Amino acid sequence: MAVKLALAGAGLFGQEHLSVIARIPDAQVVAIADRNETAARTAAERHGVKDWGGDIIDLLRHTRPDGVIIASPGQTHVPLALAALELGIPALVEKPMAMTASQALPLVEADARGPAFVLPGHVLRFSAPHRRIADIIGSGEIGRVLSFSARRHRDDSHAVRYPDIDPIMMTMIHDIDLALWMTGGTARDVHAWRSPDGAQRSQTMVTAKGDTGAVWSLATSWTYPGEAAPDRIEIVAERGGIDFETGTYIRQYGDKPRSIDLAELGPDDSLLNEVSYFVHCIRAGERPSVVTARDALAGLEIAGAALSSLGRE
Ligand SMILES: NC(=O)c1ccc[n+]([C@@H]2O[C@H](COP(=O)([O-])OP(=O)(O)OC[C@H]3O[C@@H](n4cnc5c(N)ncnc54)[C@H](O)[C@@H]3O)[C@@H](O)[C@H]2O)c1
Repeated sequence: MAVKLALAGAGLFGQEHLSVIARIPDAQVVAIADRNETAARTAAERHGVKDWGGDIIDLLRHTRPDGVIIASPGQTHVPLALAALELGIPALVEKPMAMTASQALPLVEADARGPAFVLPGHVLRFSAPHRRIADIIGSGEIGRVLSFSARRHRDDSHAVRYPDIDPIMMTMIHDIDLALWMTGGTARDVHAWRSPDGAQRSQTMVTAKGDTGAVWSLATSWTYPGEAAPDRIEIVAERGGIDFETGTYIRQYGDKPRSIDLAELGPDDSLLNEVSYFVHCIRAGERPSVVTARDALAGLEIAGAALSSLGRE
């Protein structure tokens, strides 16, 4: 029997979720909700889904799916995910899992109580190149990580499409999660700068001192009028380093210098891998371990410190 999924939020990213679910043989969408009922109905018609409406909680009560994907705006994530968990329904919650660490706490507690769980949508934990980088670090080949730098620039339509969410919460949250994962610890002394001050269409830089000794340096910009510069990661470690440019290369330096052909890693279907993992956890009755609600909480604590450094709590 297919694992039955519901979707909250049939916007741009909700539709990406629907496309990947269609590629998973043992998963099926049984309900779609969107505050904008036309969006829910259009998506339901396109995917042959019978139950749709404006209120995901009504639909969850009525259709009793095995899991729900919450791809509505960040402000709605905690109340919707809490309601799902109360109904015993596991939730894949898009990033940011919550708007603040304190808002996230009841959800982290509900997840810990179980049996229904939260899988935070930190999709890069499911990306083949990122997993390869984490494996190289984990192998000890380049030694302890001394610095983690990342940039994630987006075109300036983001400043218009997402006026209600800070670029740190929307875009940099991915790199905060990568830094937590790849350095193996959280960070303190978080400082942020933005230019122009207070603008959505801006460049933001964050530095921090990781508690495993790594210095963090993260940048995100929503200023590019056209195509933005590609995402990059640079890691400096005691016996080498790694440079990664999304879609182009992974280069390892130091004792074992090499270039890793991204084609060798296969297609980078990170969202497909993430949703497949959600389906696997539901089917196997397993709690997520690749990324957890506690990991997402740790990221929100750093993001909160960065916002506070900008005076934007
Ligand atoms: N993992 C990633 O890389 C990634 C990329 C893009 C977006 N996202 C996340 O996905 C989520 C949605 O982003 P988007 O770009 O699709 O935004 P969007 O604005 O295109 O879509 C959001 C949809 O949610 C609907 N909605 C609002 N309140 C709702 C509610 N209470 N119940 C049901 N539906 C509701 C809106 O009507 C809209 O159709 C955000 O949390 C965003 O951060 C993640």
